[in-house]
Amino acid sequence: MKLPNWSTKTASIILLALFLATACETATPSPTSVSTVASSSTAIATPPSSNTPVSQETGALPAATRAQPTSTSVPASTTAPTAAPTATAQATATPAPARFSGTEALKQVQALAGRIGSRPSGSPAAASAAAYIRDQFAAMGYDARLEPYKATSFVERSSKLVLTKPQQIELTAAALVNSGAGSVSGQVAYSGLGRPADFPAGGLQGKVALVDRGGGLTFQAKMENAVAGGASAVIIANDRQGELRGSLPRAATVPVVSVLQVDGQRLQEFIRQGPTAVTITVDATLTAREGANVVATAGSAPNRKMVIIGAHYDSVAAGPGANDNASGVASVLQLAAATRGRTYPFDLVFVAFGDEEVGLVGSKQYVSAMSSQQRSQLVAMLNFDMVGVGDAMQFGGEQLLAGQARQIARDLGYKTEEMSARDGRSSDHASFVDAGLPAVFIYRSDDPNYHTALDTPDRIVPANLEAAGTIALRVLDTLARRN
Ligand code: BES
Ligand code: ZN
Repeated sequence: MKLPNWSTKTASIILLALFLATACETATPSPTSVSTVASSSTAIATPPSSNTPVSQETGALPAATRAQPTSTSVPASTTAPTAAPTATAQATATPAPARFSGTEALKQVQALAGRIGSRPSGSPAAASAAAYIRDQFAAMGYDARLEPYKATSFVERSSKLVLTKPQQIELTAAALVNSGAGSVSGQVAYSGLGRPADFPAGGLQGKVALVDRGGGLTFQAKMENAVAGGASAVIIANDRQGELRGSLPRAATVPVVSVLQVDGQRLQEFIRQGPTAVTITVDATLTAREGANVVATAGSAPNRKMVIIGAHYDSVAAGPGANDNASGVASVLQLAAATRGRTYPFDLVFVAFGDEEVGLVGSKQYVSAMSSQQRSQLVAMLNFDMVGVGDAMQFGGEQLLAGQARQIARDLGYKTEEMSARDGRSSDHASFVDAGLPAVFIYRSDDPNYHTALDTPDRIVPANLEAAGTIALRVLDTLARRN
């Protein structure tokens, strides 16, 4: 701006007035227009899959869906940052603090979980959600795109386990995700924990292996050892109460089913008494499909450090996934709105991950496609998952980052809780941590409606969304001072 020949004092007053006007505009991030759901079909529409949360055991990288790192995805380094502060703000050198609006974020929860609804992996609704999120970023002026990747859907229609000898009894059984399909009959051999030494030297010769969960072996390892030992099917008995919902990272060639701990013990008892036989029938299909992450940047430059702000947009099939995880995506969108036009000593990369609920597939795909240069440039990844319901904030992931975030939360007066062990590996930050990258998990854990039809937008507390966003903005400021 060219100033007339006024006194510097007058000029300063004018600049201050201009700055205040600008500050008032930026203090309340322009409301993101919550438009109607994009119905344009995107690449990822395929038949719905079964989407129960699954356990892979022993830290084995889950993947109901095998993400093939095919896309050249990931933060493209193209243009220089477009998000420069206004001349007026620069003149006074103190831009207004970025502000996060919980009520604006709630509108995004309503759009995703209310209007689009349940967004299970591979469903048309998940594709609509991805397109909607991309359009929201684009409307804020970001360079936003879908980054597709190859995935698979395992659809289990029915699984059956019938004891045929010494008596006829039907047991409750569930196929592990990526189990082989078909019907197999044979004598059952108890094979302990399923270690190589647990199988007889001469092989099982087509028998069905009964193995127990646990012992530090993944389901995948137990299955592979059993197949190498000649098994024609595998039964994995739970080692604790409740159902075992397991998943195999790589597809099996034989049926692999789980049974309750009590049924495993019953089978063992029959085997001790004499020949015991079963028929296992798994009716399931594994189909190839596309998934996609949504990535938005304000333009990034090569050699710049970066901070990734992410959340998964898929839900389980059981419900609309308002807290899990429209709340996280809403936080990411609102952070994009709040930081638009601000500069940091790093690029901000906003990512909505696909297929989290079937094994962190989108985030694993994203990490596997990062170049070593991009990895070295990553200052932090902030993962938001279930931030809308519950009494206290929790922080997981990399200890140093989690500790910093927790301290910031406390300093801001928010109630915090130590991370529960269960949640440490259960979301997309784990894909980064596993690759040795710094990631923090920002969440609340006591949601009574987790993975149910009652995970609805009306239960989301806007103040909770605001807490997550406000803490994130402070984390960014802290990272900015240190980088
Ligand atoms: N949002 C959950 C994880 C979670 C649960 C966070 C409770 C905070 C509190 C996530 O979407 C999920 O369900 N994860 C699965 C594991 C995943 C690898 C399939 C889980 O925890 O069972
Ligand atoms: Zn989640």
